[in-house]
Amino acid sequence: MKENEIKLTIPSSLQNISIIRAMIKAYFEHEHVDKGDSFQLLTVIDELSTNVVEHGYKYSRGNIIIRIEKEDHVISLVVEDNGIGFDDSKLSKEEGGLGLQIARNVADTFTIEKKENGTMFRLKKKIREVV
Ligand SMILES: Nc1ncnc2c1ncn2[C@@H]1O[C@H](COP(=O)(O)OP(=O)(O)OP(=O)(O)O)[C@@H](O)[C@H]1O
Ligand SMILES: [Mg+2]
Repeated sequence: MKENEIKLTIPSSLQNISIIRAMIKAYFEHEHVDKGDSFQLLTVIDELSTNVVEHGYKYSRGNIIIRIEKEDHVISLVVEDNGIGFDDSKLSKEEGGLGLQIARNVADTFTIEKKENGTMFRLKKKIREVV
């Protein structure tokens, strides 16, 4: 792991979403991420984590795994689960909800990778730094 990379593994529940948010907000402050960029990224993290709880694990037990790092003014974020896995057929625009759309809009790059068990959502975003 790189020096300023963090990894959170936290039980999947809606209650824990606010804990994730608070921890990552502190990380962004520590890394001098601009407030507006931080807010946008936290919104994406909320959406992806909520999806893990609701869709990945369908409210059953499991872990939300989040990795985040800042390198050269770019935040790399991975939100991962070991849940039921991502069904591509759900991606049609009519059926899609807001969460993944928000992630795409905020991100410079956003990819969804299927794992053997579960799904990995990867995002990169160039951010401003405050001095
Ligand atoms: N972690 C995940 N595991 C499995 N499927 C997922 C996961 N995240 C998203 N999906 C699938 O992608 C779809 C779109 O997600 P999105 O967040 O855009 O919409 P939503 O969660 O259905 O609605 P909203 O976010 O607007 O409340 C979901 O309905 C679900 O089928
Ligand atoms: Mg959603």
